[in-house]
Amino acid sequence: PDRVPFHDRYQAGIVTPQQLFAGFVAYDVLVQDRADLTKLFQKLTERCRVMAAGVKPEDERVPSERPTPDSLSLTFGVGASLFDDRFGLAGHKPRHLKAMPAFPDDRLDPAHCHGDLSLQICAEHPDAVAHVLRDLARETDGMLRPRWRMDAFLNPSRPSGSPRNFLGFKDGIVNPDLGSATELDDLIWVTPPCGEPEWADGGSYQALRLIRFHTESWDRLPVSRQERIFGRHKASGAPLDGRYEREAPDYDADPDGRKIPFDSHIRLANPRTRRSDKSRFLRRSYNYDQGFDEHGLLNLGLVFCGYQQNLERQFGAVQRRLRHEPLARFINPYGGGYFFVLPGVRDRDDWFGSRLM
Ligand code: HEM
Repeated sequence: PDRVPFHDRYQAGIVTPQQLFAGFVAYDVLVQDRADLTKLFQKLTERCRVMAAGVKPEDERVPSERPTPDSLSLTFGVGASLFDDRFGLAGHKPRHLKAMPAFPDDRLDPAHCHGDLSLQICAEHPDAVAHVLRDLARETDGMLRPRWRMDAFLNPSRPSGSPRNFLGFKDGIVNPDLGSATELDDLIWVTPPCGEPEWADGGSYQALRLIRFHTESWDRLPVSRQERIFGRHKASGAPLDGRYEREAPDYDADPDGRKIPFDSHIRLANPRTRRSDKSRFLRRSYNYDQGFDEHGLLNLGLVFCGYQQNLERQFGAVQRRLRHEPLARFINPYGGGYFFVLPGVRDRDDWFGSRLM
């Protein structure tokens, strides 16, 4: 575990290599006016700065010690509701920010949707999540009300390659090249000339989806059927026309969809045409395991987390292509939200949202 730099043009936790544990939390703000909202953002900045630096145990008033930095990253976003009439911010709303709509295969539960603020906490150890939440509860007492929370983690890669999600398939194989500044500026960061308000420069849109799996019915499918639903081999992760995980599928060589079905998840999500190229975005998802539900069914799923420059052109377009995909019978998207991840805090004098307020 190492220290993830806090001061930067962009927030950490987006292009940061994915840590093993995560907590996703949405809050509503209780403060009533712009001056108190400013104070809240300044307070959140101060606490994030301290926690990202690693806290000395002697400074701790809560018993959970966390003396190492743990590769902790804290990523703050704002929801569309923050731009309603409470704070006079309506004219400053990022262009594509709105409440996450219900897509055709969704069954959204209002108790697990939306929020004024979103916080993604990532670290190499699971106790970091509770540590951060306790710190914020103490330091922002009366200013924030938690709305929903989901803790999640990555599975280890067995035996090699990308880790698997709870449907048993390798996940996170295809993503933009985070080493390429052009890919980041074209696909991830809000940066001129996006037509966004000036204050938003350096931010990114976050699409969060809480997706439960119907593992009982999934596990009854033959593996060959599961593979046609995703378009990839279960064991290797390779596309069904290939042998290796990292091999790109060649849809031109499979014009009838005989090897990789047209309605498979990967072919719908990324048909690899010149037009669909602009809809690529960064997936940084985690698995969750919430035990059994009240009927004794396993409550397993995915916190799908996508980062992008333009919600409509990217997540929205891909999600619409996935409408009624065969996978939809085995999953239940029930929560999440759309958020705008604020630009980074540049130095000691800067704070979250300084150019917005
Ligand atoms: C690829 C699983 C939801 C977009 C994949 C892959 C798996 C997978 C196993 C193949 C490996 C990889 O490239 O990472 C799932 C599961 C989901 C889910 C289990 C929900 C329960 C979504 C959603 C979106 C999405 C909601 C976006 C709206 C993509 C994209 C790819 C992909 C863009 C890469 C396709 C490519 O470039 O070939 N997903 N996914 N997925 N998924 Fe999903």
